[in-house]
Amino acid sequence: MEQKLIMMVVLLVLALATATATAFTAEYVRPPPRKTLHFPWNPKPSSHPQQVHVSFAGDKHIRVTWVTNDESSPSIVEYGISPKNYSFKAQGESTSYSYFLYSSGKIHHTVIGPLEDDTLYFYRCGEEDPEFQLKTPPSQFPITFAIAGDLGQTEWTKSTLDHIEQCKYDVHLLPGDLSYADYMQHKWDTFGDLVQPLASSRPWMVTQGNHEKENIPILKDGFISYNSRWKMPYEESGSSSNLYYSFEVAGVHTLMLGSYTDYDKYSDQYNWLKADLSKVDRERTPWLVVLFHVPWYNSNNAHQGEGDEMMAAMEPLLYAAGVDIVFAGHVHAYERSKRAYNGKSDPCGAVHITIGDGGNREGLAHKYREPEPEWSIFREASFGHGELMIMNSTHALWSWHRNDDDEQVRSDQVWLTSLIGSQCLSEKSREQRKILSEP
Ligand SMILES: [Fe+2]
Repeated sequence: MEQKLIMMVVLLVLALATATATAFTAEYVRPPPRKTLHFPWNPKPSSHPQQVHVSFAGDKHIRVTWVTNDESSPSIVEYGISPKNYSFKAQGESTSYSYFLYSSGKIHHTVIGPLEDDTLYFYRCGEEDPEFQLKTPPSQFPITFAIAGDLGQTEWTKSTLDHIEQCKYDVHLLPGDLSYADYMQHKWDTFGDLVQPLASSRPWMVTQGNHEKENIPILKDGFISYNSRWKMPYEESGSSSNLYYSFEVAGVHTLMLGSYTDYDKYSDQYNWLKADLSKVDRERTPWLVVLFHVPWYNSNNAHQGEGDEMMAAMEPLLYAAGVDIVFAGHVHAYERSKRAYNGKSDPCGAVHITIGDGGNREGLAHKYREPEPEWSIFREASFGHGELMIMNSTHALWSWHRNDDDEQVRSDQVWLTSLIGSQCLSEKSREQRKILSEP
């Protein structure tokens, strides 16, 4: 009897141990793509400001963009630092475009400023309510960026946006593929409304992906919708195209490049990039960050090798300038590399992060190449977003947050150090940096 009892206790302990071990080692079960969001028809007065978003427009200036159906609505932004008390007023410009049977509303772009740093502003557009609020970024570290690419407009997109809203960030960076409108122009409008709560309150800095290119040979320029709606500070940064530009905030110089415009040695983009990098002052901006859509370091089967040509043309420039971090999208998954250059890990190269996992309708890219390349540190096919908290001139905390059944779960976290003060930027590497000053 006693033996039987001991046996039962042993079996019970074993069963419990197995159950615990199973729970501990259980793999995360990735959920399937979710439905595209349904946007009920909700007509507004024609002068009502819609799709409001803000972006940087040069030092201490912000561009406010919105759409009205009313052609006569003024491109005026009233703003101030207390609610309903607008001490300042700015007049902007407007544009519109047509795409076969579709005609856009009036798209207003109005630059406001100079603005105080790290300050909450209240504003309204076109002399109409409602009132919006935006917080300007700090002028010094710490500063936090939220990052998610390939957003689309599905229930997973909503989950990602909800998580970004919960984090205390200063600027949103989007490495391409915004609306997934794919020629259906009204989807640009629904996307604008979907992101308005976030994009009207913090600067959203975007670059283009393949889903922005709605090209119909001879008839339509590929980026007419994107360029009309998401005007970025290209003129302010000496670029001749909205498809590539740079901006500075706190101590960070950020370049937004175009994967879908010319990048070869004789292209405007290449020459602008070289000129922009050669002007970077690492004393003023110790961190150098680059974004574009198609990743150069990608061990996922999806879009394998698509970034190779751009990498061959431009990586030497980024390496010579000592870029710290490169963010890309396109692959619907997350991957982080060691510092790398020329296809191998290299202490003077950039950390490459693929973050095309915003939640679009195409679902996740599950299959990875084996064996895992030596430069790849972390890779996972899940939806989510990233947060880059730059603490000072040398240290930043990077974290990736997976959308785990609608909860955000921090799944990857690492301290990154800038190249400032390293041998990579010292006298020794001057030779390599000559490429930036060559004609
Ligand atoms: Fe893409």
